[in-house]
Amino acid sequence: MTTIHDFITTATRKCAALPDSGHPAQEVWALGCHVLSRPLTQLLASDPKERIDPQDEARWTELITRRLQGEPLAYLLGTAEFWSLRLRVTPDVLVPRPETELLVEHALAASPAKDLRYADVGTGSGAIALALKKERPAAFVVGLDKSHKALRVAQTNARVLGLDVGFIASDWLTAVEGARFDIIVSNPPYIHCADPCLTADGLRYEPSLALVGGEKGLDGLRAVIVQSVSRLNEGGRLLLEHGSCQGPATATLLRQAGFTAIHTHTDFAGHERITEGTLYGR
Ligand SMILES: C[S@@+](CC[C@H](N)C(=O)[O-])C[C@H]1O[C@@H](n2cnc3c(N)ncnc32)[C@H](O)[C@@H]1O
Repeated sequence: MTTIHDFITTATRKCAALPDSGHPAQEVWALGCHVLSRPLTQLLASDPKERIDPQDEARWTELITRRLQGEPLAYLLGTAEFWSLRLRVTPDVLVPRPETELLVEHALAASPAKDLRYADVGTGSGAIALALKKERPAAFVVGLDKSHKALRVAQTNARVLGLDVGFIASDWLTAVEGARFDIIVSNPPYIHCADPCLTADGLRYEPSLALVGGEKGLDGLRAVIVQSVSRLNEGGRLLLEHGSCQGPATATLLRQAGFTAIHTHTDFAGHERITEGTLYGR
C-alpha cells in the first residue's frame, strides 16, 4: 500500500506537465480531499506515513489520469468557486472563469441602486446571476439559457445557495419578450467556429453551445445586443464579455443598435474583455 506522502509526491510530479495548471500540488491535494472526503486542513495534518486504502488510491489515480488527459479540475471535483460562491458544475455547463467576475464587478458598479431588474443571458451554471443576487438581495434577477441541462445545474445552485433567482429556458431573450430590465449582462459563446483552441485541453470537454459563436464568434454577441434594445428600460445598461480581439466589433454592434456611453474594459492580463453601453430614447 502506498503512503499519502508518496502518492502526493509522484502525482504532483506528473501534474507539473499540465499546460493549464499553475499549481499542480494544489490540484493533487484538492482531488485528494475530494476522494478521501477530508477537508484540506485535515489532509495537510495527516501522518505522511499513513497508507491509502487501495480503493481510494485507485479512485485518486483515476482522477489524476483524467486530469492529465486535459479534463478540467472543476468537472473532476464537481464544483467551482466563483465570486466566493461554491457552484456545482457538470460537463453541461461552462466552468465559470475568473475574468467573468469582472463582468459582475462592472455590472454592480453600473447599478448602485439596490432594487433593480437584472437579466443574465446564457446563464450556464448561473454564476453571474447568482453573484448579482448575492450582492443585491433586493434586486429581481433572472437567468436565461437555451440549454435545459444547464438550467437544471443553475437551479440546483440557486437552491443550495438559498438565492432567489428565476431561471428560464430561452433562445437569447426571446422568452422575455414583454419584460424590461435595468441591466442586462451576458457572457455569450464568442469563439469562432474554426478556432483551433476548441480542440485544446480543457475546452474540448466543455459544451460547444457554451463556446462557439459562429463564423466570426460574433453571432451570440450580435443577438444579445439586438434583442436587448427592446428589453432595456430607459437608461438601461448592457454589459458583455467577449474575446480579446472583439472589443472594437462589439462596440460597433452596440453603436449600430443605438447604444451610447460605450466603454471597453481590460481583464487581469490586459486583454480587452468587457464592453458596455447605455440605451436612451428607444
Ligand atoms: C460562455 S457560456 C457562459 C456561461 C455563464 N454565464 C458563465 O459566464 O460562466 C455561454 C452560455 O450561453 C448559452 N447559450 C448558447 N446559445 C444560446 C442561445 N441561443 N440562447 C440562450 N443561451 C444560449 C450556453 O448554453 C452557455 O450556457
